[in-house]
This record gives sequence, structure tokens and C-alpha cells, in this order.
Amino acid sequence: MLDKLITTHDLSDAELLRFFSEPQEEAPLFAAADAVRREYYGDEVYMRGLIEFTNICKNDCYYCGIRRSNSHAVRYRLTDAEILACCDEGYDLGYRTFVLQGGEDGFFTDDKICAIVSAIKAAHPDCAVTLSIGEKSRESYQAYYDAGARRYLLRHETADPVHYRKLHPAEMSLENRKRCLFDLKAIGYQVGSGFMIGSPYQTPETLLSDIRFLQALCPAMIGVGPYITHRETPFAEMPPGELHFSLRIVALLRLMFPKALIPATTAFASLHAEGRELALRAGANVVMPNLSPVTVRKHYDLYENKVCLGDEAAHCRGCMERRIASAGYRAVVAVGDSLV
Ligand code: 5AD
Ligand code: FES
Repeated sequence: MLDKLITTHDLSDAELLRFFSEPQEEAPLFAAADAVRREYYGDEVYMRGLIEFTNICKNDCYYCGIRRSNSHAVRYRLTDAEILACCDEGYDLGYRTFVLQGGEDGFFTDDKICAIVSAIKAAHPDCAVTLSIGEKSRESYQAYYDAGARRYLLRHETADPVHYRKLHPAEMSLENRKRCLFDLKAIGYQVGSGFMIGSPYQTPETLLSDIRFLQALCPAMIGVGPYITHRETPFAEMPPGELHFSLRIVALLRLMFPKALIPATTAFASLHAEGRELALRAGANVVMPNLSPVTVRKHYDLYENKVCLGDEAAHCRGCMERRIASAGYRAVVAVGDSLV
């Protein structure tokens, strides 16, 4: 199976189902994934500055700690000036990509988002702006693009409609999520999608649909990370995703999508002290250190035990660079477009 993955970058449905249900030997799998990433991206790991600018969300996803029904969440919004100050600080630290991530917060109208994107582009024309603000109309996505955004992250979460229903309330739909992702691509965005590993009710069959969906979408970035339980959600009793299974999925994705950017996500770091390094060695090639003000960090509480909550941006940058080096790679702050 590994030979076929290396030579064809694909597997049959039956082989994928076997991959998901039978543990693979890790050393050869990770070595193959590492060889493929080095072939396409060398030893570079791209650093993106992440700004979590609002934790207010109109949605109620059953797995997410900032869901609207979590009345214990302490809500915040950054002002335009605070967002721009994060970018200025990030720029001085060398970052050339800013990722603005937030809940689906109606306060941030299209005009407000466009104004923020334009202001960042005006202050730092050599930087790329990535948005991760959820499901919007095609017109909204077009407006953000016209304002200067070029990348958009929106995980599909699961490509299986029955599974999607189990993770989200009735007012959300997989159809709309897919519509968003294909609209974003049609507009010209570099699109990132992905899913949680080990989310409640996930099965080998739902993972198979995730892979086939990603093959149809051809995203520039694929973000995955272990599901981590949050006690203030309906899934409080559900077990978290398993670290080694999650790492094998990263390696599989690297082998199936050699040119994709794959982040070593914060969820990996939150599940294991060296989770990020392990994900890098399994094929990931992006990290997103936090640039949000330390005062709001702990409130962007998607899941429990999230790391880096008390660290100043400069500290995160140094820490991340050391971790990347210790895993055997080189931190790069350039814009770092995907090869897809
Ligand atoms: N565990 C892991 N990842 C989560 N996300 C949301 N809640 C959790 C959780 N409990 C992920 C989702 C979302 C991204 C921003 O964070 O996949 O798209
Ligand atoms: Fe905010 Fe799911 S709870 S997008």
C-alpha cells in the first residue's frame, strides 16, 4: 500500500478504508511523507501570524467551545486599531502572512471586514491576508477578495452528510459549506479546508468521504488536527482524537496531496507537548503562531488545554522557530504560496 501511495499519490476505496481501520507501521510511513515534502517544499516551514479577532459566533456547532449556547464563554471583539496593531507587531517580527480568524460574528459586516483587509494591505502591501470567518455569500467573498484578501480557510469538518448532521444543528448544512468552498475557489482564493480527526461519530467511511471531497476540491491548504473535548459542549463526554492516528492521517494527506500546505495545528500541540514537532515530521509544513493580544487568548477557547495562552507574540515566534529547528526543518516567514 505504501509503495502505491508513493508512486501514484492515491489509493482505492478499499485500501483507504484499511488504512483508517488498521494501524500502519509509522516509521516508513512518516519517512515517505517526509521525502515527499522535501521533494516539493524542501525543509521550509512557513510561519503565519494568527489573529483571533472575535470569539462571538452565531453558530452552535456541537464540538466547539465558542458556540453560541456556551454561556460560560467570556466574549470579546478586537477593535480595528487592535487588529492593525497585531499586524504591525507581527510585521516587525518578520511575518508576511496574517490570518484573521473569528467566529461568525454579525458585528463584522462585509464593509467592516473589507475596511480591515484594505487597511492591512495599505500598511503592509508585501503581506498576504488570509480570512477564516466562516460561511458567507459569494458576493461577500468577492468583496473581501476585491479588498485584497487572497486566502480563505474554511474546514469542511466532515464530507459525509449524516456525520455532518451529528456535528451541527439543523440550521447548518454540508451543502452550504461545500457551496462556500467552491465559490471561494471560483473567485480565485487559495482555499484551505480540512477536518477534525477523531471527531464524535467519525468512521473509516466518513474519513474516506473527506479524502474524496478534498481530491475534488484541490485545496491549497489542508488543516487537520485531533478533536479535543470541551466540557461546555454537548460532546463533553466524547473522547478526544488519538495522537498517533492523527499523525498517520497527516502523513497520508502529505502523500496524497504532495503540493498542499499542511499546518501542524495548535490542536496537535494541545494534545501532546511535542505534538507540533511530531506533525511536522509526519509531513506538515506550516505553523500559525498566535499574534492575538495575550489578554484575549484564553477566551478563544475552541477546545480545552489550548497551548500558548500566556505567551507574547515575540515569545511565540522564538519558541516556534526553535521547535521547527528541533524537528529538523527551517522556519520561513515569507509569503509562502502553495504549489497547488
Ligand atoms: N477540537 C478540535 N478542533 C476544533 N475545532 C473546533 N472545535 C474543536 C475541538 N473541540 C476546529 C474546527 C474549526 C477550527 C477553527 O477549529 O475544525 O474549523
Ligand atoms: Fe462558531 Fe461553529 S461554533 S463556527
